[in-house]
Amino acid sequence: MSTFWSLWVMALVVFNLGLTLFLFSWARKVEIPTLEDGTTGHVWAHGVLRESVRRLPGWWVITSAGMFVFAFVYLLLYPGFGAWKGLLGWTQHEQHATQVALNDANVAELNSRFAQLSPEQLAANPLAQQIGERLFIDNCAACHQRNARGNPLLGAPNLVDDDWTWGGDDASITTSILEGRQGLMPPLGSLGADTVTDLAHYVLSLSGAPHDAARATNGQPGFALCSACHGSDAKGNPIMGAPNLTDSTWTWSKGDLPAIERAITDGLHGVMPAWKARLNQDDTRVIIAWLRSQSGDRLARR
Ligand code: HEC
Ligand code: HEC
Repeated sequence: MSTFWSLWVMALVVFNLGLTLFLFSWARKVEIPTLEDGTTGHVWAHGVLRESVRRLPGWWVITSAGMFVFAFVYLLLYPGFGAWKGLLGWTQHEQHATQVALNDANVAELNSRFAQLSPEQLAANPLAQQIGERLFIDNCAACHQRNARGNPLLGAPNLVDDDWTWGGDDASITTSILEGRQGLMPPLGSLGADTVTDLAHYVLSLSGAPHDAARATNGQPGFALCSACHGSDAKGNPIMGAPNLTDSTWTWSKGDLPAIERAITDGLHGVMPAWKARLNQDDTRVIIAWLRSQSGDRLARR
């Protein structure tokens, strides 16, 4: 605080406290002229209402005096009177630093307790679930939805089914979170709309979804192009993030024909940002624990 503002604040404090203190003591001593009947002589309503005189009640005087004492003691001990630091040397910065250190110590203690739990025990631990859920809401829900069921518009997958594009073991999920993931499916519209539709019917046939059998048969040979990434059995490839096309879970759609045609024609590019700047291994552990607790038995560790 510059000297000017310090003096300015001091002047305001002295003025305000001085003025109220003056009014306080003056109001206690001042003589109010009264008539013989004990009233001031002010009348209203043709003499029906008359103003009488009463001294300040004792409780009010004592409370006010107590407040003045409190104000003086406070300004003596704590910062508040301009640049005066207060006798206790208390600062907000220091209090903040102390609280942060306290919190860090609590978190470290908690994490060392969590470290002794197996992933299954962690997923069953209510406190870990609560922290994992909070971290998920803060960092992940914007794309994967509050319930972690995913968002087809962004290509953000469902994280509580047991279908994983990039691998569903703890280490792979941790890498997905800390390092981020980017799947790249190239646009193949150049194959021509007809071929694309044939391929889409073939893709639908892989998971037993309703499809045109003749078109699927036409599409099958063309799938050789796709199997480079999706695998010759179309079960996907976690190294490239190419999803399994033979199950009935879909990331980018509900598995309807137009959406699959669009995926083949325009390509897909999902971006999962890297979180290592914000989250560490301890955080991902509780997030994964929460995800597992949400999916129950279906997501038993593999
Ligand atoms: C900006 C949107 C966005 C945010 C925020 C986000 N994700 Fe993702 N995430 C994605 C997308 C998109 C993918 C799919 C990437 C791909 O395969 O192309 C993905 C993929 C993943 C995968 C891989 C899934 C699989 O099937 O292998 C995991 C695990 C994951 N995210 C977890 C998280 C967690 C945990 C958070 C919060 C810490 C998070 N994500 C935050 C968009 C996001
Ligand atoms: C260069 C590798 C590559 C090739 C070739 C490729 N894909 Fe893909 N495909 C991917 C990747 C990676 C994704 C996931 C994209 C993402 O989520 O970011 C994907 C996603 C998809 C999806 C969306 C799946 C879902 O869950 O929503 C469909 C459908 C698909 N591919 C079909 C095909 C077909 C059909 C072909 C051949 C015509 C093909 N792909 C060729 C890499 C490839």
